[in-house]
Formats: sequence, structure tokens, C-alpha cells
Amino acid sequence: MNILVTGGAGYIGSHIVLLLGKLGHDVTVIDNLSTGRRESVIGAELIVGEVADSAFLDKVMNTKKFDACVHFAGSIIVPESVTNPTKYYDNNTVNSLNLIQACLRNKISKFLFSSTAAVYGIPVGGECLESTPVMPINPYGKSKLMTEWMLEDTAAAHKDFNYVALRYFNVAGGNVEGLVGQCSPFSTHLIKIACETALGKRKSMSVFGDDYKTPDGTCIRDYIHTDDLAQAHIDSIEYLVAGGKSDIFNCGYGHGYSVNDVLETVKKVSGVDFEVTKGPRREGDAPNLIAVSDKIRKTLGWKPKYDDLSLIVRTALDWERNLK
Ligand SMILES: NC(=O)c1ccc[n+]([C@@H]2O[C@H](COP(=O)([O-])OP(=O)(O)OC[C@H]3O[C@@H](n4cnc5c(N)ncnc54)[C@H](O)[C@@H]3O)[C@@H](O)[C@H]2O)c1
Repeated sequence: MNILVTGGAGYIGSHIVLLLGKLGHDVTVIDNLSTGRRESVIGAELIVGEVADSAFLDKVMNTKKFDACVHFAGSIIVPESVTNPTKYYDNNTVNSLNLIQACLRNKISKFLFSSTAAVYGIPVGGECLESTPVMPINPYGKSKLMTEWMLEDTAAAHKDFNYVALRYFNVAGGNVEGLVGQCSPFSTHLIKIACETALGKRKSMSVFGDDYKTPDGTCIRDYIHTDDLAQAHIDSIEYLVAGGKSDIFNCGYGHGYSVNDVLETVKKVSGVDFEVTKGPRREGDAPNLIAVSDKIRKTLGWKPKYDDLSLIVRTALDWERNLK
């Protein structure tokens, strides 16, 4: 298949691009390299450009008949979305609209969207089904939810347009062969920060709140390995191309680890007892955020292979160690 990928030079996109290429698909990446890196695009053509630029999108979409468009490009730092919301509505919502419109103009009728657990906000009990009410509590989550809504309405109006929105939980780790991983300079991801601290790239790190109503008082999250997430994208594309209807799927393993579990694992795997300080709670942190992922397993036949915190941490550490 010919697959168009936006944001394929970024952390998650580069894993999907790699897997698509390995499976023999012809992949074209559009990326403005604002947070992505040229060298992260392996086995695909990279065209540097802007999702905001309609004429550029038309030009790329005219080069061949694309079977599907996979949309990763976006801005992803939640605290930044609170201080600079218009950046998020612009890059995540307006630019997604631009891309959807370009797909309609150029008859690309299968669309795969990177959504997020942030659309659920602080769900009661912490377990999220796809039917759990969506109540995002920050501009990042709202900007992504608006794109889900645009896709829903577009698919309702254009019967041949179908989409899948994958709501990722906490994405972590790096490619098991060490080919791609997380490069983002201002990452707020716990496992990346803990690995940086273990390797001496940071002096110490903080735990934000240890008085939550969880067994050890720290927040619990559902960490999903990037290569399993990549497989979920392949399954989604195959589903859409086979005539599957528009749908939304959670991407997580269905169980979680606390911040303390993660830190202990990073210390054990790295062999470094790095300094961790206690900080106050951060506003908007749910105590528990776990994906109920039965739907993606049943509907798409997704079978994760890397549901193992030590492996996730090892791949993240190996990647971080080699990162220049
Ligand atoms: N990282 C996570 O844990 C997580 C969780 C849930 C959802 N997501 C979603 O997954 C997607 C990818 O996230 P990531 O962690 O790989 O982030 P990333 O910053 O590493 O990747 C984003 C990529 O998009 C590119 N880009 C951004 N704006 C662009 C534009 N206007 N035009 C062209 N290219 C542009 C960047 O250069 C980068 O390569 C995002 O849409 C994000 O909302 C990520």
C-alpha cells in the first residue's frame, strides 16, 4: 500500500514508519521537523513541509494514489498547552482540519488519527472504556477531542470516508532493535525523565504527589510499548482498507504501574540509585488512568507482545544511552 504519514519523524510516528516499511509498504512522510528528526525516518521518503500548508499537501497527495493517511503531527506538551492554548488549537485542531480537507479533495478515504487518553480527563475510578464520558481538562486534550469530532462528522457526511482514532495511554520505551526512540528535548514522559536521571543527564527528578488514594500514594498509569502501539496502527490500517467502519479504540494494556513502581524498575534495570525528590501534586493529574482495551483486541485482533515494564524500561534506557 501507499501510506501517507504526517509527523513520521517524531517519537511515535517513526516507529510506525519503520514497521510499515518492514512490511513492504511504500511510505511518504510529511514533517516540519519542529520536534522530529530527519534520521528517525527509516525506510521511507521524507518530505519536509507543513500540515498547515494546503497547497503543499495537495502537491504531495498528487504524487501517487495513497491508500491511507496516518496523522501523528501535532504538539504534545500538556503544561505548554495550558500557558499557550492557541498554539495547540492551531497545530492540533486547525491543522488537522486542513489535513482532513486535503484528504477529501484528493480522495484519500482512510484516515488514522493519534488521539489520547487526555480526552477522558479525570475519569471516575480511573478505568476508561471508549464509552466513558469525554471530559478533557486541558487545551491539549480538548484540541485532540475536537479533531475526533471533526472526523466523526466528516465520516457521517461522506459515506466513503472512514477513520480510526486511537486513544493512546502512556506511550513508553523504544524500538526493541534500538533503531528509533524518543528524542523530544522537552519531554514530560516519566520513563524518559527517569532514564535521563539514571544516566546522569539530569541531577535529580521529582515525584509529583505521594498522597493519592492508590496503594503506594503515587499516580498509576497504563504504559504501552511503542512497538505494540505500532502494531495497533498496522491493524487499524488493515481494518480500514478491508472496509471497516469508523471507530475509536483505546491503546493500553489494561493495567498500570505507579510512579514508584516505574522508578524502582528504572533503578533496578540501570543499576543506579539516582536522587528522587518529593514535589507537590500537579494540577490535573488523575490518580489512576487505565485503558480498558478489550475492544481493540476483539475488533482489530491486536495482540501486544511487550507488556513488560522491565522490557519497556530497558529499551528506553538503551535508546537514551546512545542518544546524541
Ligand atoms: N507521546 C505520547 O505519550 C502520546 C500520547 C497520546 C497521544 N499522542 C499523540 O501522538 C502524536 C505523536 O506524538 P509524539 O510523542 O510522537 O510527538 P513528537 O513531537 O515526537 O512528534 C510529532 C511530529 O510531528 C511533527 N510536526 C508537528 N507539527 C507539525 C506540522 N504542523 N506540520 C508537519 N509536521 C509537524 C514534528 O516535527 C514531529 O516529528 C501526537 O499527535 C500526540 O498528540 C502522544
